[in-house]
Amino acid sequence: MPIPPLLDSTDERPIELTMGRGQVELLPGIMTPTTGFNGPNLGPTVRVRDGQNIPITYRNTLSEAVAIHGHGLHVPGELDGGPQRAIEPDSSWSFELPIRQQASTSWYHPHTHHKTGPQTFKGLAGMIIIDDENSDALPLPKTYGVDDIPVIIQDRKFDDQGRLDYSIEDVEDGMLGDTITANGIANATHRVPAGLVRLRLLNGANARYFRFHFSDNREFLKIATDGGFLEEPVPIRELVMSPGERNEVVVDFSDGNPAMLVSGPRAQAVNDERRRDEGERNRRRNREPGGLGDMFEVLQFTVDPGLPAIRESLPRQLNSINRPTAQRNWPVRRFDLFMRDNRRRGVLGAFQNNIEMSMGINRQSMDMRVINERVRLGERERWVINSFDGSHPFHVHGCSFLVVSQNERPVAAEDAGWKDTVRVDDSAELIVRFDHKATDEFPYMYHCHILEHEDRGMMGQFTVS
Ligand code: C2O
Ligand code: CU
Ligand code: CU
Repeated sequence: MPIPPLLDSTDERPIELTMGRGQVELLPGIMTPTTGFNGPNLGPTVRVRDGQNIPITYRNTLSEAVAIHGHGLHVPGELDGGPQRAIEPDSSWSFELPIRQQASTSWYHPHTHHKTGPQTFKGLAGMIIIDDENSDALPLPKTYGVDDIPVIIQDRKFDDQGRLDYSIEDVEDGMLGDTITANGIANATHRVPAGLVRLRLLNGANARYFRFHFSDNREFLKIATDGGFLEEPVPIRELVMSPGERNEVVVDFSDGNPAMLVSGPRAQAVNDERRRDEGERNRRRNREPGGLGDMFEVLQFTVDPGLPAIRESLPRQLNSINRPTAQRNWPVRRFDLFMRDNRRRGVLGAFQNNIEMSMGINRQSMDMRVINERVRLGERERWVINSFDGSHPFHVHGCSFLVVSQNERPVAAEDAGWKDTVRVDDSAELIVRFDHKATDEFPYMYHCHILEHEDRGMMGQFTVS
């Protein structure tokens, strides 16, 4: 598995990310045309620190416009990189990026109107690591690429000549591929030290959900969600991740045994209450969301006793999260996610190129001329998300939020941290607050992170003032 090069800007040195074309061996022995940042596929890992201001330039040498969004960053709307910020071919966008948030794992990817899906699929995505004083002090594995490992997991589909094939069979499912890649390659393997290994997992797939676990069913610890560390490590044996989500986990390899990171139904899980519940719901709907039922090998780990290993146990406390109780007098906003089959109901919705299905939120498809919500700066709100058909990862720009309940249950301990993307099978209730402004000219977005749903209008715009 390739480790993306590190663009370390923890000394505020300028960052340049240039989008261009390349070729890469995604499948063994076949060169596939791709796009990437500063290289043929994906992009470097950008490392920054809380409190910094970093000069950044995105350059576009491709033949179509691309908007690049910093997913998970708490920056004002004008620096958020939404569709209003499309960078034309042979142009660039330079600005100063203010980092004002806790240690966490974020990422950058296209956000171009109607084109986020195909552009991301072709290889435009990279990780962002934010450090702060807390992450400096915590005794966690933190040697990049050795025991602190970025893992971008995606799925890809190829045509008979081995070229990436962005053809969607079912818009409801989105772009599902049959080949799983880790940091851009299939059949990935990686050597790790005989100790604690931290994985920064990013589901960078367009539409696929993963149910990660290890082939030997070992327990591992979840230490962080999208927006920062959990209060304490939570032991788990499996981890469901919908597109856009990040989770940090720590796996103990000190026994020296190899293990395969896999995705799919876990044989041992049949007695688990939560899983039974979930199974029941899926049976009711007669489908597993996002290909969750498919079984894949993702990444084979082998242990190299020659690598420097950390063996201490993890700290009991990683973070302190001020979790307010939702108050009655807070404003409440509802977001109803819909998919409408036009073949049955007559053509509706703003998306003209794909008339078989309209998608949207609160009866409206994304329209760049429409501001759907206006939020007040610095005020807590309750956001209630409902899905009436299918499961959708709901993502909000410009903030981290707390999940109060998810799918009719109080939030699980492992998801009780800061998040910006939440899987909504039925419903979710969130506590949100925005600390930066977003104007009518450069509003924030909320949307489904199944990129084919986003591109078909399951997205809205909001200002913060
Ligand atoms: Cu990761 Cu609006 O997106
Ligand atoms: Cu985002
Ligand atoms: Cu969706």
